[in-house]
Amino acid sequence: MKYFIVTYGCQMNVHESEKIAAILEKLGYQPCEKREEADIIVFNTCAIREGAEERVFGNVGNLKKLKKAKKDLIIVLCGCMTQKEETAQKMMRTFPFVDIVIGTFNLPKLADYIAAVKQGRQLQIWQEGDIDESLPYKRTSGDNAWVNIMQGCNNFCTYCIVPYVRGREKSREEQNILNEIKQILSEKKYKKITLLGQNVNSYGKDLKQPVSFAKLLKDICALEGDFKLSFMTSHPKDLTDEVIDVIANEEKIEKYIHLPAQSGNNRILALMNRKYTREKYLSIIEKIRAKIPNCRITSDFIVGFPSESEEEFNDTLSLVKQVQFDSIFAFMYSPREGTVASKMENQVPQNVKNERVNKLLQEEKRIQKETGKR
Ligand code: 5AD
Ligand code: SF4
Repeated sequence: MKYFIVTYGCQMNVHESEKIAAILEKLGYQPCEKREEADIIVFNTCAIREGAEERVFGNVGNLKKLKKAKKDLIIVLCGCMTQKEETAQKMMRTFPFVDIVIGTFNLPKLADYIAAVKQGRQLQIWQEGDIDESLPYKRTSGDNAWVNIMQGCNNFCTYCIVPYVRGREKSREEQNILNEIKQILSEKKYKKITLLGQNVNSYGKDLKQPVSFAKLLKDICALEGDFKLSFMTSHPKDLTDEVIDVIANEEKIEKYIHLPAQSGNNRILALMNRKYTREKYLSIIEKIRAKIPNCRITSDFIVGFPSESEEEFNDTLSLVKQVQFDSIFAFMYSPREGTVASKMENQVPQNVKNERVNKLLQEEKRIQKETGKR
């Protein structure tokens, strides 16, 4: 029996696919190179932008032929798209040949669902659940081991679907994280540990006995072994001086911070509900550069947020010029149903978003050439 997993989206999904792989291997499935050879195909989906969802719809549609040729083929759809009840139902209607549609919280029971499908059932489940500590991972990222430290997000940036599909912030107990990393290090295969969370800087605030992200970092660095530690993603409003000091002082921590700014204009930042200003963002960058010389800094930007004027977009351009990031990701704003921004007036036309994203990326290229940065 063979399995094939298709993963869309962020590192969180890549890591969750490692859990899916472990579940399937425990059931006796082996990985295969092509979906045509598989007995079970899993689509781990992403909902962050419309483009990601469209790709999933197209690619799942293509499975119809395979299912016709191989009646016992099991098709599973999971991840952020399927956590949205309406999208999950639409997928089931559009693709009646799909066997299992489950949300982000339902992976721990995947083995049971597969057993039910083998008895002729079709399943749709997207109930909220807790952090799962029971299942192992089949690590697939070479000498890097991903370690999830929390799930969900409380920030409700007005453009973002994540809080709706991943729920509120829930941190793992520190001891469970340390035990997992000790186990990883004992295997002697991994040189790099990358901590994952939507907003790692607010790690531990929700625990019964709160633990700060800075303490977690220090405690991990105190573990024996030769490894490098990094983490993503940081929110500028929560990146404390203490965390910057820990990065500066701990040899094991990579001198790298991904710090999404999203915009360089204060009116747009407020509309995005980011809870910092351009000036505050710049002061954090200054602090990082003063305390951690040669720290690599990267960022995300959204262009064409509802009502963004040309002048306001120019503030984003000038922020990019001013900071000279090591690299940036630039996205065209994509309205997500259910979010506050999707209902805002003055949505920016697609051709303007295109122009702005190209301008931003060109500027980025020019700066990189000038500064010799990658
Ligand atoms: N449209 C465009 N980009 C988005 N991002 C999040 N939501 C949206 C959206 N609706 C971007 C942000 C975030 C990155 C992971 O994706 O820049 O940092
Ligand atoms: Fe989305 Fe904002 Fe949370 Fe990041 S911090 S996941 S952009 S709501």
